[in-house]
Formats: sequence, C-alpha cells, structure tokens
Amino acid sequence: MVRKINENTITDAVIDQMSGTPDPRFNEVMTALVRHLHAFAREVDLTADEWLGAIRFLTAVGQQCTPHRQEFVLLSDTLGLSSLVNALHDRRASDAATKSSLLGPFYRQDAPMKKLGETIISESEGPQVVFYGRVTNAAGEGVPNALVQVWEPDETGNYDLQKHDPSVMDLRGCFHADSEGRYYFRGICPTGYMIPMDGPVGDMIRAQRRHGYRPAHIHFIISAPGYRELVTALYVAGDDHIDSDTVFGVSDSLVISVNPKDPNSPLPGRPAIHYDFKLAAAAKSAAMSGRVGVDPSQILQKAH
Ligand code: BEZ
Ligand code: FE
Repeated sequence: MVRKINENTITDAVIDQMSGTPDPRFNEVMTALVRHLHAFAREVDLTADEWLGAIRFLTAVGQQCTPHRQEFVLLSDTLGLSSLVNALHDRRASDAATKSSLLGPFYRQDAPMKKLGETIISESEGPQVVFYGRVTNAAGEGVPNALVQVWEPDETGNYDLQKHDPSVMDLRGCFHADSEGRYYFRGICPTGYMIPMDGPVGDMIRAQRRHGYRPAHIHFIISAPGYRELVTALYVAGDDHIDSDTVFGVSDSLVISVNPKDPNSPLPGRPAIHYDFKLAAAAKSAAMSGRVGVDPSQILQKAH
C-alpha cells in the first residue's frame, strides 16, 4: 500500500527512509535535523514564498564565500550557533579551563612564528600595548612551550585580509611560551568593529535593526601536547558593545582592562594587558578540536 504523505506523516516517512544510514552519528544528527526542521516549518506555518526566500538567502550566502571570506561562518556566528557549539565543547572538558570564544572568519593558519617580546605589528599604527601572562594547566602549573597564536584587527577595526592583498600578514603571530608557560608580545590596543555587512548576513542584521558591532578584542588559539586546544578571545572592559556583541562571544571571565602602568609587565613602560590562560587536559579519545571554524581558505579544500 502506498504510504499517505501529509503534513503529519511526512516527518516519519523521511526518518524511516534514512534509517538505513550505516554511520550511527550521521543518522542521529540527520534524524534530529529533519525532526526540528519540520517542527519549525509547522510552527511558523512556512509559506512557499518564505521557503523560496530562504533558498535565495542561503544561495547568496554561498555565493559570497571565497578562500578569504566565509559568509556561512558569519551566519552561524550571528545566529548564536557558533557560540552554542563552543559552550557545548567547554561542557565536555574534564576540568575547568578558560572559556572558549569565537574563532570567527578571520583566522589564518600561517601566521609568522615570533620570539617572545616581539611585535605582531607590521603595517598598522594603533597605540601599542604589551600582552602577557601564563599558560597553565587546571592545577595552575605552567605549560612549558605552549603554542600561542594571536590575531587582532587594526586601529580602524579591519583585519589584514580586509585591507591588504593576502600576501600581507599584519597583527598576527605565533609564540612559544617559555619553560614556565609565560608568554608576552607587543601588539596594538584591541579595537572593535562592525562585522562584514556588505553581504546577505549584513542584510539580515539590518532587517533585524541590530547594530552589527563586536566589542574590542584580540583572538588566541593556545595548544600544547596533552591538552585540549583552547580557542578564545579577550574583550576590553567598558566597550560600548561589551553587552551586545553581534556574535555572542563575550563572557565575564574573558573581559580584561588595559593597565597604563603595570609594574609586573615583562616589558615595563608601556600599557599592558595581563591574562593567564588555563588549559584542560586532552580527552583520552581522539583529540577534539575546539575550533568552531577554520581558516576560510581550508573550507574549500575537500575534507578527508
Ligand atoms: C571575529 O572576531 O573575528 C569575528 C567573529 C565573528 C564574526 C565576525 C568577526
Ligand atoms: Fe575578531
């Protein structure tokens, strides 16, 4: 007998048809996705015009993507999905560690390796500041030689890729912490900016009357063998948008202040930002990346 397909039976019909999926996790994710997608369409009584509008919007999001721009990541960020995936990731850690924050669409994986104390500035002219602190384990012991990757926007709120051709790397660097987990380097005082608003995600943000800004911040990825990779950012206290980040990346524990005269700074005489990062032990199973996103140039490469 031919199965009757109507608004009540369609969900089970799709789930039944997918039930032979050999990969159990793929089956679980797709089954839940179909259930929630159908429930959403029923809840809002989705019209054909709205369905087509969504198809047009997603098509435009895809067309906006290049090796140097990831509009889908931006969409995930502005809908709070990236931040939710970060929070779920943090919940799976075995011990308390520094909170994750958004990787965002401007991470580049080939930033230059630098020595402790060096500057990440090559082009920009913003006011300089020293960033310093320790990378420790959950017990507060230093993690020797931890890899600290950093990137920040310039004094106009633009990342290098937004202003220069891709051969220029500005305000990015990688450092190895010393034998006691200490790191320090020079950069510019973090700035805030509006997320890229010239694509379909910007159209959505304007239609929702949202301001589109991120508070001033600097990004970090910190890693060491035996530890979960930490993807996070530090946010400057007092920024106008600290409580209304368009991509929901700020947590209280990641808010810092610039100290105009810090006697403990390893490079005294300059304003300094001090922050100690705590890494959680790596899971016993396969290393789980904490990156919600990648260098955009890698997304177009085939996954294996
Ligand atoms: C960023 O902080 O680089 C960023 C994160 C999400 C959207 C846009 C920018
Ligand atoms: Fe950023």
